[in-house]
Amino acid sequence: MVGPISTVALTFLLLLLQISTAGSIATNEQDHDNIVNEYNQATDKSLLWGPYRPNAYIGIRPRLDRSLISGLFWFNSDSMDNLNKIRHYCDQSLDFQGFGWERYDPRIGGEQVFKDNEFKLDLRTYFVKNQEDGNWALRVKGTPRAGFENSATSLVFYTGLESDDPDNDILLSSFGTPKNGLDKGESVKLLGSNSAFGEFEIEITDGPTTNKHKSIPSKQMLDSSLDPSKTHYLSLRVPNDNVWRAEEIFQVLIQESVQKLVQDFPDPKLNPDSNSLLQLRDLQGFEGNLHFVQKTFVGEFEFDIIFNVEKSEDKFQAENLGVKINDTLKQFDSKFNNKIKLQPPFQNVDKYEKFAKEILSNLLGGIGYYHGDHLVDRESEFNEETYEKIQLKGESEGPFTLFTASPSRTFFPRGFYWDEGFHLIPMLQYDMDLTLEILKSWFDLIDEDGWIAREQILGEEARSKVPTEFQVQSPKIANPPTLMLVFESLLKRVAAATDTDADTASFNQLGDIDSPIDVEKFDDITTTKTDSGISQTDIFNGESHLKHPQLMMDYAREIYPKLQTHYEWFRTTQRGELEEFEREPTYPTEAYRWRGRTFTHCLPSGLDDYPRAPIPDIAELNVDLISWIGVMTRSMKEIAKLLDMEDDYQRYSRIEKEIMQNIQDLHWSDKEKTYCDVSVDGNDEDMFVCNKGYISLFPFLLKQIDASNLSNLKHIVELISNPKELFTNYGIRSLSRQNKFYKTGEDYWRSPIWYNINYLILDSLKHYTNDYATEELFQLANKTYTQTRLNLVNNAFKHWKKTGYLYEQYNDVNGSPKGAKHFTGWTSLIVSIMAMPESLVRN
Ligand SMILES: *[C@@H]1O[C@H](CO)[C@@H](O)[C@H](O)[C@H]1NC(C)=O
Ligand SMILES: *[C@@H]1O[C@H](CO)[C@@H](O)[C@H](O)[C@H]1NC(C)=O
Ligand SMILES: *[C@@H]1O[C@H](CO)[C@@H](O)[C@H](O)[C@H]1NC(C)=O
Repeated sequence: MVGPISTVALTFLLLLLQISTAGSIATNEQDHDNIVNEYNQATDKSLLWGPYRPNAYIGIRPRLDRSLISGLFWFNSDSMDNLNKIRHYCDQSLDFQGFGWERYDPRIGGEQVFKDNEFKLDLRTYFVKNQEDGNWALRVKGTPRAGFENSATSLVFYTGLESDDPDNDILLSSFGTPKNGLDKGESVKLLGSNSAFGEFEIEITDGPTTNKHKSIPSKQMLDSSLDPSKTHYLSLRVPNDNVWRAEEIFQVLIQESVQKLVQDFPDPKLNPDSNSLLQLRDLQGFEGNLHFVQKTFVGEFEFDIIFNVEKSEDKFQAENLGVKINDTLKQFDSKFNNKIKLQPPFQNVDKYEKFAKEILSNLLGGIGYYHGDHLVDRESEFNEETYEKIQLKGESEGPFTLFTASPSRTFFPRGFYWDEGFHLIPMLQYDMDLTLEILKSWFDLIDEDGWIAREQILGEEARSKVPTEFQVQSPKIANPPTLMLVFESLLKRVAAATDTDADTASFNQLGDIDSPIDVEKFDDITTTKTDSGISQTDIFNGESHLKHPQLMMDYAREIYPKLQTHYEWFRTTQRGELEEFEREPTYPTEAYRWRGRTFTHCLPSGLDDYPRAPIPDIAELNVDLISWIGVMTRSMKEIAKLLDMEDDYQRYSRIEKEIMQNIQDLHWSDKEKTYCDVSVDGNDEDMFVCNKGYISLFPFLLKQIDASNLSNLKHIVELISNPKELFTNYGIRSLSRQNKFYKTGEDYWRSPIWYNINYLILDSLKHYTNDYATEELFQLANKTYTQTRLNLVNNAFKHWKKTGYLYEQYNDVNGSPKGAKHFTGWTSLIVSIMAMPESLVRN
């Protein structure tokens, strides 16, 4: 440790000299403020509109707290029962042969497909944007499956203006409310105005003349205003934060209409067609801020929804949309090819390229913008004698805002702290600025105590997906700080980019830049380079921070105090007991225990049912947690170094060293030859709790093994590569086959294969390439790495081909999928895995 520190001390000295002689600080500062403003404005424009309601199949909103919320849903209208089968919110129980984005970039748009087996329909939508003016358009195309050309599909587009200034913000139809619907070929036009967009127009076209609307004999419609061959329009007023309920509102409107018909036409022999009963009509003469447009087609159909800002000179029109869509998809392809370099055997193979594009697109398509209050219990204490599960009682806090990816659009459509760091790993390869926008949004949520709720359930729409008992968050509960891992990696990329003119996109992996930041070179660039401004290309490529490192410095400086609070919160609230149990590791403070475990679960750790000490006790010490705190410390150290905080840098270096040593002292079992949790037996004597599997790998996974203890690597690699323990043909399983808890209980983290941990395993096998003591050990590590990488990709690919989905986990015996479907959260690390080198190379 002595060597590197003295080099750093020298660097600090040099920096001091440089700063004191720098002459043009004033102009640099001005340039700098301009760059920051330019970047913020360009980013707000670039990311303004998006499918930021990933819980809905098609849900569009801007990154603004209260504004225009839109969506589209569909159903087969040949049967009344289908009113309960509306395709609106992503639902994994629906019979789809997959759905989601085939190509998508939040900066430009993309294409989404829904393969609806039950309704025998393939629906394809294209979303495009004009970033400069803030226009967007959605093209909707339907193709019935062969033999179902006469099935009727009803599609409902809704859009509602939410507003804090309802007297001035308006959205109305340009034609009043036509009672009998609109004729074929007629567009619906809505006109609006608010402070964010000025005046704007939304046009819902009727599509090309080849469209066929469902038509039925008039005697089957009871009321001529219910002709399904017309486009139906209705608006009504709903309070703020209720537009998302559009589906429910639609159902109620239809039910009311049907009740009225039953009253008016009591003759049971009348047999009206469901296609007419399921049409919207405005019984009450409503008008308001939420607007519905309904169309019912048979055969192939296509129509557009076009949002144009009035002052824009480059408005979208149905006629120029085809070209724009094709351009958008081409742009995505070229950005993907520039950024994601798949490695053999996946390189230049069409099927793998398509696979990787879809996975990445779905990860990006899972990004949402959430705004609202959440429920927090700041009172309840966990009982550390009984360890009984307590029911938290929430009080509303907020509102807060979060821009985040999500684990699964069908099952977990909201922000999760520990998942997010993993989501950002493939994203960082594709668009660094976007990744930083998401990190910033999360870091904004750090409260004054340094806490971030591990699950972000903001607002009613998000809450509607979560059972009440899970809605409340406790500020005593932590969760693995994966975001720090990404922030560190991001800083290193920027630092590395300043060090070379070479193509920066080639920094593919987190692990490629494990070396510490070269502060001197970094600082040279950030203080002396005169800046030429942010270009559209920088924004599109998500490379503004690479091209303008001072942007990164600026943010790092701004967020540093908050990150410090976050870090101290972890270290103080999750501390473990040493003195009380007469434990004497080399250093007297570094030991940690997750708060909030029960007899069966340790939810804070993220590995919910992984076996821990059989009886919870305040004596427990958790090896995964101390490793996470080690990562946080390392990240804080790198940031402090970048910001010239020498005292802080020294302090973090010291803690890092202490943690690594204490991991050895407290958690390595010489008998079991693995890292273990610690607790006490009936006589209060220390005992190891060694359940071999993911938890015992953490010091390795998070690169917390001290240089003097590299001999432990042998046992770790052997554990991973042994099929009797962790190795399988589908990836590395979570718990050893030899363990008595293997495949017991919920079997959530007690055998299945998880991609987030498998990614860390590959990354660490690679990281330690030059540290394997013997050629034999290196060969074993190399073989395990090479095969596991192939196994992971091949198995996910196979099931994706078959079912159309990625999954939450996979069975360790036969590779079959388990858990939540459409899990393009951290399972999308497959993209990063495909971009890792094929095998290990020693130097
Ligand atoms: C867009 O691309 C598709 C497929 O390559 C092609 O069939 C179509 O004609 C193109 N449309 C326009 C307007 O260029
Ligand atoms: C490595 O780990 C062992 C066991 O925890 C510990 O006693 C020792 O101090 C560490 N360092 C070396 C050089 O073995
Ligand atoms: C690593 O393993 C791969 C696959 O088994 C092999 O092709 C490669 O030669 C090995 N690398 C070294 C340096 O031995």
